[in-house]
Amino acid sequence: MTKAYKIIDHTYDVVVVGAGGAGLRATLGMASLGLNTACITKVFPTRSHTVAAQGGVSAALGNMGDGDNWRFHMYDTVKGSDWLGDQDAIEYMCRNAIPAVIELEHLGVPFSRTEEGTIYQRPFGGHTLNYGKSMAKRACAAADRTGHAILQTLYQQSLKHKAQFFIECFALDLIMDGEGVCRGVMAWNLEDGALHRFAAHVVILATGGYGRAYFSCTSAHTCTGDGNAMILRAGLPLQDMEFVQFHPTGLYGAGCLISEGARGEGAYLMNSEGERFMERYAPTAKDLASRDVTSRAITMEINAGRGVGPLKDHIHLHMEHIDPAILQEKLPGIVELAKVFTGVDASKDPVPVLPTVHYNMGGIPTNHLGEVLNPTAQNPEQVVPGLMAIGETACVSVHGANRLGANSLLDLIVFGRAAAIRAKEIIAKEKSVKPLRPQEGEAILSQFDGLRYAKGSLKTADIRLTLQRAMQTHCAVFRTEATLREGIEKIKDIATSYKDIQLNDRSLIWNSDLVEALELQNLIQQSLVTIESALNRTESRGAHAREDYPERDDTHWMKHTVASLQGHKVSFTYRPVHLYTMTPEVDVIPPQKRVY
Ligand code: FUM
Repeated sequence: MTKAYKIIDHTYDVVVVGAGGAGLRATLGMASLGLNTACITKVFPTRSHTVAAQGGVSAALGNMGDGDNWRFHMYDTVKGSDWLGDQDAIEYMCRNAIPAVIELEHLGVPFSRTEEGTIYQRPFGGHTLNYGKSMAKRACAAADRTGHAILQTLYQQSLKHKAQFFIECFALDLIMDGEGVCRGVMAWNLEDGALHRFAAHVVILATGGYGRAYFSCTSAHTCTGDGNAMILRAGLPLQDMEFVQFHPTGLYGAGCLISEGARGEGAYLMNSEGERFMERYAPTAKDLASRDVTSRAITMEINAGRGVGPLKDHIHLHMEHIDPAILQEKLPGIVELAKVFTGVDASKDPVPVLPTVHYNMGGIPTNHLGEVLNPTAQNPEQVVPGLMAIGETACVSVHGANRLGANSLLDLIVFGRAAAIRAKEIIAKEKSVKPLRPQEGEAILSQFDGLRYAKGSLKTADIRLTLQRAMQTHCAVFRTEATLREGIEKIKDIATSYKDIQLNDRSLIWNSDLVEALELQNLIQQSLVTIESALNRTESRGAHAREDYPERDDTHWMKHTVASLQGHKVSFTYRPVHLYTMTPEVDVIPPQKRVY
């Protein structure tokens, strides 16, 4: 082991990397099942990005008297995914949504309430009743701070069950053995500078998305997809990375989220001609069409010269007509955000909004139990032993080409719970954790050490800004071969320029210079895979809108992209979409034209 570093060795049944909603739900589940569980997190758990989730968590509880049913939820999710979602996993998620949300309520999540005292539910984009006939009230909300409420509760419960937390500890890389088995993970404790080597039966990646690959996103600065990049460096592939969701209503300028819950409570979009233009693009669902449809509609309005403001480069969200008491009770967070970041009083004036990167549908391929798959193996459902992934970092795939709002918090809790149960089953069969040999993790440390002493000429922040601008310009809401090819050349140049990075801080304690350089490497690797995957898929589906291939092409492209990275080169294989259900209790939803 590299002499200059103090290494602290640990052994756990399970190590979870990440303490957002998925990581905490899994941590809580495993600790309560009696597994010796550690959770490593680069930020304090309640600062994880789940804290920013606003509008709700979907479950067909039917509390608002609308006769909702999990089969309607499943239909909406399959349709929302533009038929790229795996229908067995979608069935699993939508059925289990109901007990999972009730369980959250019992754990102590302070949901808003109906008159009758049940969980309050609001409409959300793409969520309907009776297979698209009318809008459902399905998003279970704690005002517009639902993620915050869930995160606090899950952290408290994890502590109650004696899970061990390693806080402000940055995971560097997976420790894989020669047989392709994950044996543990190497991490750096920012607080005291120590390096930690964790051996475990199972490592669970719950590291979230990589929104920060873009210039304008609703994601926190910490959303750098560290787990996805660890997978690429372990020689494993990522799935469906071309599908990047733009939320229709990011706050103009700041990028932060203005919840779809606002439109669920009656807010609407308007262009500079005073037109409620969504009526043209989605005659039935209007402002509550799915996100890809709404983001494209806004972009087309702006491109047609009907944007608002001096530059005509954004759109207005009106909520002045909503009763101020309702704004205060149901949407206090976004009223505050609008005031703080744009100076607009949402009860008097329209809020300026713009489609903004919000979510990554792609990620680490897994089955519905949370086990990581290696679809490049002969059997595309081949499990990688010792490795699981959950939450936004995973691609189960329940969101396919486009995620419905409120299905993300749901994904976190349903698959966080499933992973805990699966980990318990796997570990019950095994004996003690196989000890790591002294040299395991050596290569990770030597890379870390090389970066720490990098003496190039380019600052991390400058390389990162160039990357974010290139992704924003070349891998946006609409894509063409020409713009993507130009973008690929830029991203490859950026990847090359990383070799000339300059670090000034050589310390190990709270070295944010080094943290940001590590995160940038992760962003670059994911950007390469994302933009190459976008060029490779010659059709339009969900969030992937190719102007040069405007139609969905089920004959050639109803399949998951499986992308691997070697150096700067991306290669592709494919994995079949599961066009079958998990049980005979629901029928397969055959592909249809997607209209709202
Ligand atoms: O609009 C929102 O409140 C976001 C919810 C989500 O992404 O699920």
